[in-house]
Amino acid sequence: MAHPLSRLATRVAYASRQLPRMAWYAGHLYVMRRLAEQVRQREGESARPKPRSDPRIDERLNADRAALIEQDLANVEAGIYPLPVDHDGSLLTLLDRSRMFFRDLPDIDKRRKRNATREVLNARTRGRRPDYYLQNFHFQSGGWLTEDSADRYDTQVEVLFRGTANAMRRQALPPLTEAFAGRDQRKLRLIDIGCGTGRFLDCVKQVWPRLPTLGIDLSQAYIRHARRHLRRWSRIHLIVGNAEAIPAPDNSCDAVTSIFMMHELPPEVRRTVIGEAARVLKPGGRLILIDSLQRGDQPDYDGMLERFPQYYHEPYYSTYLGEDFPAIARGCGLAHRRDTAAFLSKVMVFDKEDR
Ligand SMILES: C[S@@+](CC[C@H](N)C(=O)[O-])C[C@H]1O[C@@H](n2cnc3c(N)ncnc32)[C@H](O)[C@@H]1O
Repeated sequence: MAHPLSRLATRVAYASRQLPRMAWYAGHLYVMRRLAEQVRQREGESARPKPRSDPRIDERLNADRAALIEQDLANVEAGIYPLPVDHDGSLLTLLDRSRMFFRDLPDIDKRRKRNATREVLNARTRGRRPDYYLQNFHFQSGGWLTEDSADRYDTQVEVLFRGTANAMRRQALPPLTEAFAGRDQRKLRLIDIGCGTGRFLDCVKQVWPRLPTLGIDLSQAYIRHARRHLRRWSRIHLIVGNAEAIPAPDNSCDAVTSIFMMHELPPEVRRTVIGEAARVLKPGGRLILIDSLQRGDQPDYDGMLERFPQYYHEPYYSTYLGEDFPAIARGCGLAHRRDTAAFLSKVMVFDKEDR
């Protein structure tokens, strides 16, 4: 049991890092909503009725966000991971990212009004990536394809979740700790599929700096960003690749993770990707998925989840909401261990059966 003073010091250190960060991104959300309101008023209120927020849902969201932060801190206090460092960059970087975020909002808004979802599908990109991938997900400029998109991505995600996206990602660390318990990290191997800009791998490396890890993503720009972001770590390999064909031998790896990617995939691709994860896992290896809550997980949120894809272009989210992950996994030889809610996300844990 930690000394009360050291416990207090941990709590103060945690709060001094996480609370300003949450306030920073919540502030962005507030300003973004005010700007949207001004646009609505300029265009005439009737043009687009303001989505009404339900005070009971807002209360639930606040309570669930607080529960996530409590859990994140409890994990630190239990020694599952050290005090997290988010590596958001210097104040100048933060301000620059903030400027990029706000400068892009009018373009996102225009795309949303025109329902322009396929700007990134053109003669240059066609056939070079799967068709389902070549879309302006979230109506974002450049889809997944540009350096600017990669540089804006983490601000966009943190604003959406008011600075808790990394805390949600960290909830994959307790089930990884269980899987790695008592084993030499240098002899294990983890693959993160759809690793994006590398924020989850950063969380992993803070716990297991000598763990050989591979990050795969279909976006060259996001992989380039991830390489820059993760350059402080060794034994990390980042490659452009398709999770439908993971470049690793059968039964070669101890853990596969995928964070916030499943909802971006068409149903048949989800099945292929989970099958690939099962293929590369060693018997007894662990697959951890973190993604949005699904329909029925928290019935109060169902309406909000159903509306989400209309506002943020999310072509596969509706099918995601009803997807039966334990059944898909079972079909691939993975046993479902548990689901744990983490604010608006859930952590799904599966183990490859010994056959
Ligand atoms: C919502 S982002 C999540 C990124 C990251 N895991 C995170 O924690 O923020 C989805 C990512 O999945 C990648 N992606 C989508 N389809 C993919 C595929 N078939 N193979 C590899 N990456 C893919 C995208 O390029 C994007 O970086």
